[in-house]
Amino acid sequence: MTKVKSTPRPVKSPVSLTIQAGRPGAKINPAMWGVFFEDINFGADGGLYAELVKNRSFEFPDPLMGWTRISPSLACGQLSIRTDNPFDAANPHYLRIQSEGTAPFGVANEGFRGIGLREDESYDFSIQIRGVSGAPRVNVQLYGADGTLLAAALLQGFSSGWKKFTAVLRPADADPKGRLQIVLEGKGAVDLDLVSLFPRHTWKHRPGGLRADMVQMLADLKPGFLRFPGGCIVEGSVLERRYQWKNTIGPMENRRWLINRWNYEFIHRPTPDYFQSFGLGFFEFFQLCEDIGAEPLPIINCGMACQFNSGELCPLDELDAYLQDALDLIEFATGPSRSPWGAQRAAMGHPRPFKMKLLGIGNEQWGPQYIERYTRFAKVLKEKHPEIQLVAAAGPLPDDERFKFIWSKMRELNADIVDEHCYANPAWFFANSHRYDHYDRNGPKVFMGEYAAQSVAMVSTKNRNTLECALSEAAYLIGLERNADVVRMASYAPLFGHVDAWQWTPNLIWVDNLRIYGTPNYYVQQLFSRNRGDVVLPTQLEGIKKSPAGVEDLYAGATRDDRAGEIILKVVNATSQAISAMVNLKEVKRVGVGSETILTGTSLNDVNSFAEPAKVVPKTRSFKAGGSVFKHAFPGNSMTVLRLKVWR
Ligand code: AHR
Repeated sequence: MTKVKSTPRPVKSPVSLTIQAGRPGAKINPAMWGVFFEDINFGADGGLYAELVKNRSFEFPDPLMGWTRISPSLACGQLSIRTDNPFDAANPHYLRIQSEGTAPFGVANEGFRGIGLREDESYDFSIQIRGVSGAPRVNVQLYGADGTLLAAALLQGFSSGWKKFTAVLRPADADPKGRLQIVLEGKGAVDLDLVSLFPRHTWKHRPGGLRADMVQMLADLKPGFLRFPGGCIVEGSVLERRYQWKNTIGPMENRRWLINRWNYEFIHRPTPDYFQSFGLGFFEFFQLCEDIGAEPLPIINCGMACQFNSGELCPLDELDAYLQDALDLIEFATGPSRSPWGAQRAAMGHPRPFKMKLLGIGNEQWGPQYIERYTRFAKVLKEKHPEIQLVAAAGPLPDDERFKFIWSKMRELNADIVDEHCYANPAWFFANSHRYDHYDRNGPKVFMGEYAAQSVAMVSTKNRNTLECALSEAAYLIGLERNADVVRMASYAPLFGHVDAWQWTPNLIWVDNLRIYGTPNYYVQQLFSRNRGDVVLPTQLEGIKKSPAGVEDLYAGATRDDRAGEIILKVVNATSQAISAMVNLKEVKRVGVGSETILTGTSLNDVNSFAEPAKVVPKTRSFKAGGSVFKHAFPGNSMTVLRLKVWR
């Protein structure tokens, strides 16, 4: 008897994932996935702004903070802080060093938790010096943390007027925690101000520019927009300390220093040496947006100080100055170079207008006081600049009474975009993946302006950027993408954290003085921004389980990349076991070779670190579906992106 070989029966998969390839839904905003920048955790000074000298203009309330006296036993001299005939009136303090010449005498700067020095890098040193007496020489030296001299340069020939002196220093060795020393040799006295040290290799090699590795990480995200300058820093703890963009443009020496609100915000994380030099100001912001192809989203103060602090209000009859700031900002960015503010932009080297289509009115405001102020801003701005979309605040939480009140008013006011902030535990993010499925399709659009899963609790110093947090965000972002007609933009917050100087955790990217790594959360956001697609494709998931807390086993969403002719399927498996699903691409005739990218780890507690920066990173391989209906296993605790070339 001949044995008939039976054809294997297809294994019936309990989970099915159907994608309606021929029924495109909402268009996805090309600028959907963006970046939220705030000068928190040494984000600007000590971070993105590549200046290596802290308190370079002696303007901190303790003018010698960051500086120490260098006075070997034989040395005899005096240090004094003065303000008579300053180099610059906006930053009037300067240092006088007077030495008897018995031994080198002067000061050392500790940098921002040390000065990061690379061996193969040139460092541009500059300083304003005025000779006072004698003919001393100024020895500029770079030292390693262990006291090894790594580079030196001699300056001399000072006159009785302020003059800029420069030197190039090439360290003989690398050191993440070096220091800069400035000592007088010979008898006499000099005045010093604006002491500066920059690596030559900044972003685009711009002198006095931004830290190249940090900008590169942003560029690698392919961000659709860049929100700036925050965050609570926009508001200030009192109005006098609010962020005022006009103080951040023009020549560096004219930019007036301000104490950073994160200097004193958290008693458990004080940072007494945290100030804002505004070396990264509004011009640099617009330039950075242009460099990395992100739409600028400036946020301006609306006449309200932080409501977690003083909550100080600008009286409504004095709001015109704030309104004028907003109008002038638009002119600075987009006005012709013959306009007063456009001319300032041109003078800084950018005669062509920048693109600016968005403006945020206040940061995280709430209450009727905000509505009163927002209404005034919206009236004036819509009249004069109907081309600009306004972003309104919605308070600090995603669902409390303040939030509901603001939303009801924003609907009445027909606001363009409302900025929601979500800091919650991973379970919240998993359970809220369907949050926007039921939002009003005709109301204001949503900007998910600050989101971040907290592994412990909001503002806990124990929060970590775990794989679990990242996966919960991925599940949530699938819901944002599915509702792309309502949710127009999203960004993680905060962006940067310096490992030795942070106030807030978790953060998207961590740095020290020389190194950088992306968190699992960074790679999640990157997977979304680099696999965005143009339109949403309806997706049905059947056969999955949901916990009583609303956490589902599997989350899935699909989009279509029109140019590439690809379906992009994103799936998050929130369980620890692999889940097999029958994937059915409806109205698809043929499927070509594509790719599969998986982000996963060995444990939900996995984090990246300087020791293991690539512990949790996406891995991509080529992928053949074999047909429009195929079975696929999604690994436990993972996010998968399938890119499938299809013909319909
Ligand atoms: O992202 C950190 C802070 O959280 C932001 O400054 C503020 O907007 C929010 O409360």
